[in-house]
Amino acid sequence: MSGLSYVSRSNAGPWTTYLAQVERVLPYLGRLERWAETLRRPKRALIVDIPVEMDDGRIEHFEGYRVQHNLSRGPGKGGVRFHPDVTLEEVMALSAWMTVKNAAVNLPYGGAKGGIRVDPKKLSRKELEKVTRRYTSEIGLIIGPDKDIPAPDVNTNGQIMAWMMDTYSMNIGATATGVVTGKPIELGGSLGRFKSTGRGVFVVGREIAQRMDLAISGARVAVQGFGNVGSAAAELFAKYGAKIVAVQDHSGTVYNPAGIAIEDLYAAVQRDGGIADCAGAERIADEDFWDIETEFLVPAALESQIDAARARRIKTRVILEGANGPTLPEADDILAERGIVVVPDVIANAGGVTVSYFEWVQDIASFFWTEDEINKRLDRIMIEAFAKVWETAQQHGITLRTAAYVVACTRILSAREDRGLYP
Ligand SMILES: NC(=O)c1ccc[n+]([C@@H]2O[C@H](COP(=O)([O-])OP(=O)(O)OC[C@H]3O[C@@H](n4cnc5c(N)ncnc54)[C@H](O)[C@@H]3O)[C@@H](O)[C@H]2O)c1
Repeated sequence: MSGLSYVSRSNAGPWTTYLAQVERVLPYLGRLERWAETLRRPKRALIVDIPVEMDDGRIEHFEGYRVQHNLSRGPGKGGVRFHPDVTLEEVMALSAWMTVKNAAVNLPYGGAKGGIRVDPKKLSRKELEKVTRRYTSEIGLIIGPDKDIPAPDVNTNGQIMAWMMDTYSMNIGATATGVVTGKPIELGGSLGRFKSTGRGVFVVGREIAQRMDLAISGARVAVQGFGNVGSAAAELFAKYGAKIVAVQDHSGTVYNPAGIAIEDLYAAVQRDGGIADCAGAERIADEDFWDIETEFLVPAALESQIDAARARRIKTRVILEGANGPTLPEADDILAERGIVVVPDVIANAGGVTVSYFEWVQDIASFFWTEDEINKRLDRIMIEAFAKVWETAQQHGITLRTAAYVVACTRILSAREDRGLYP
């Protein structure tokens, strides 16, 4: 962590993980390695104080951040997270991963991320609105449709994006729908956004299946997480003939070797808030989820789920990372040795940011596309991105994760080199 006074000296944490990932890419950068230090330094980090008068009259202060890790390829793009444990270092790492993800799928964006140290569940709706508006006003110095475009992340949603868009618009004296994405449809949001990440997971699954001589029809699929990402991916796998043999969420794990009906899973979530008592499936112990034999495993819930021990047990052909960071680095090496292919998060779950990009394009053009057009364009971007990463992995004999970083970092540093240094 040479030269960065604001990074902690301990070796734990997401920023250190990110730096280790950059290290693995260096041998493949050729002449561009000269520019690699750019990747290790966020371009800009803003820390803001958010004073709010609470409902009971107290004045509380919250700490907020917006980090723009890299803007070489275009405006910043990345979510805003409301969580009591968010730190500057975490936001730095998340912004760097957005730089990599946006470049890996070739969206014309840099990478950014924001956060507030707050537990939104402890705020009233009015307090949440005040926190959001003051934060937006404070970071208004550096965001904008052609500067940096926030989006929802953990504990933020369409309503919060609507307040952000309104605050920014009030401050500049004009309605600026393109300043954030993930907005409600009536405010310039995009069709297809809700299922886009799960759709992208399925599309890359289908692409890799072709290259590995695996059939989707009849394939066995296990999914961890049946929320936005997991349910949409499972639904598409089932639609194309795969069997969803196991699903795990916060409420428990269910299993049926003959396949669990998607409608039964949705019905259980609607009825109980979780899949544990889903009809037509047997309840099994949570840890047994990792022993089930499948062709596809889709972690789509939390980070750090696949550690070294689980990596030795998993019996699947392909892991599609719907979640961000579900596989630990030591597990990655074990899976590679065992011949289990991992499609990394920066490609597998990039469908969400891709449709966010479509939302921004539609807002700028004030011309809106049909859901069918959106899905077709999304599929094309995912297919091209996956093909490039697959080719790079074959060419160098490296994992898809390292290949995705090679593709992304080459694009980022080529842009840096072409632009040159100012002054
Ligand atoms: N939503 C997106 O567009 C998007 C885009 C990129 C990445 N991601 C990532 O995908 C992951 C899931 O996001 P989401 O939007 O589907 O969230 P979500 O809140 O809609 O769903 C999360 C799911 O995980 C399950 N879960 C929670 N705790 C669990 C536990 N201990 N064990 C097993 N399952 C558990 C929940 O029950 C739920 O089914 C996250 O890592 C997120 O960062 C989401």
